[in-house]
Amino acid sequence: TSAQIGVTGLAVMGRNLARNFARNGYTVAVHNRTAARTRALVEEFGGEGEFVAAETAEEFVAALERPRRLVVMVKAGEPTDAVIGEFAPLLEPGDMIIDGGNAHFADTRRREAELRERGIHFVGTGISGGEEGALNGPSIMPGGSKESYASLGPMLEKISAKAADGTPCVTHVGPDGAGHFVKMVHNGIEYADMQLIGEAYQLLRDVAGYEPARIAEIFRTWNTGRLDSYLIEITAEVLSHVDAATGRPFVDVVTDRAEQKGTGRWTVQIALDLGVPVSGIAEAVFARSLSGHAALRAASRGLAGPTPSPLDEAEAAAFADRVEQALYASKIVSYTQGFHEVAAGSEEYGWSIDLGRVAAIWRGGCIIRAAFLDRIRAAYDARPDLPSLLSDETFAREIAAAQDDWREVLVAATRQGVPAPGFAAALAYYDALRAERLPAALTQGQRDFFGAHTYRRTDREGSFHTLWGGDRSEVPA
Ligand code: 6PG
Repeated sequence: TSAQIGVTGLAVMGRNLARNFARNGYTVAVHNRTAARTRALVEEFGGEGEFVAAETAEEFVAALERPRRLVVMVKAGEPTDAVIGEFAPLLEPGDMIIDGGNAHFADTRRREAELRERGIHFVGTGISGGEEGALNGPSIMPGGSKESYASLGPMLEKISAKAADGTPCVTHVGPDGAGHFVKMVHNGIEYADMQLIGEAYQLLRDVAGYEPARIAEIFRTWNTGRLDSYLIEITAEVLSHVDAATGRPFVDVVTDRAEQKGTGRWTVQIALDLGVPVSGIAEAVFARSLSGHAALRAASRGLAGPTPSPLDEAEAAAFADRVEQALYASKIVSYTQGFHEVAAGSEEYGWSIDLGRVAAIWRGGCIIRAAFLDRIRAAYDARPDLPSLLSDETFAREIAAAQDDWREVLVAATRQGVPAPGFAAALAYYDALRAERLPAALTQGQRDFFGAHTYRRTDREGSFHTLWGGDRSEVPA
């Protein structure tokens, strides 16, 4: 038998992806470093479709029809390089290696360039949706060459999630590392969404005085409106869950130190390099790292601050509505920042990424899937050169309607001493962009004062310097 696709690396994501291909009628060659896993897959799920179990790399490659499509599902970094090193010598020009892990896009660019020299297509592919998505339909973000997408695209379209309008949640994002770049930003936005939801929860708890079960109900209600999304849905599930051992709310027995595998951090690191202000995403990453500093937090616990005093019932209900406004407005800002980063990456690397298509393929399958993304798609489809999501009339109008409540929520958070860095960063970004004048003029003056770094003027062309240590006259720089 010859297989149309092969999957090597059969941990849970690889295994589920292989099953997804098989369930969709493709013959799938499967391979794992330890063959026991390969055998286990075929024993357990062999009935779902056609699998070809390969014990060795040679057998695996021989099982694939040409041009070969070989999906690598191993850990990002060294393990990925090791697997490529093992298989590339066995491949022929025209064959494709598809890296479905969470690789750093710079690694993907390097690998793509190296393999291109040997005539092999390297397709760095972002895959989102966790275990469940890999099995039943993920959102797929392939980079790599156009030719590789022509051969691979139809298969990916088949196994991907479908948006509500039936469109497959996959597109050729752009050349070389474009797919992994977009997946990286997806994860940065995922972090920001999670942080904003966390802040909303904490405010409902400490300011409104609600218990987790009650807050779960509020999220359930929000999930029927404009915040309708996978992350809001699972938030309600997590908040209503009761720990079996103690009978207490599950959120109260989990250690409050958030972990991360690094993709959110990369989003911020790259944004710094590209000069893109992703302050909301950055606050989300910092909030995770702050939460992890157990000793620092313990040492700070006695510091002075207000004691939150919960609102009465009527006030609490009104406050909850305001929190929804603050959450929604802050979410618009996170996505504005994330899409800015995608646009900047596209510009820097010449990827020509279609932002409307990115929004479209995030509508289903992925962790940030939400009704909201169809509106982002519509905004970019209507105006592909939209300078920012905030320049879209609909989003601008919604923020205008939300802003008073957004500000009030931050006033309450500040007064009651509840940290809301995501909400605050989002509002500061919004106000900074709107501002007629920024204190950056003063910054320029300071720089010129201490370092003769020069400045520009609002009324004339050119660069200038003031003789601060002398008679303070101005000279052209
Ligand atoms: C996805 C997710 C996934 C990510 C996890 C955990 O799109 O399916 O983004 O790729 O690895 O969500 O990420 P952290 O461990 O960094 O929170």
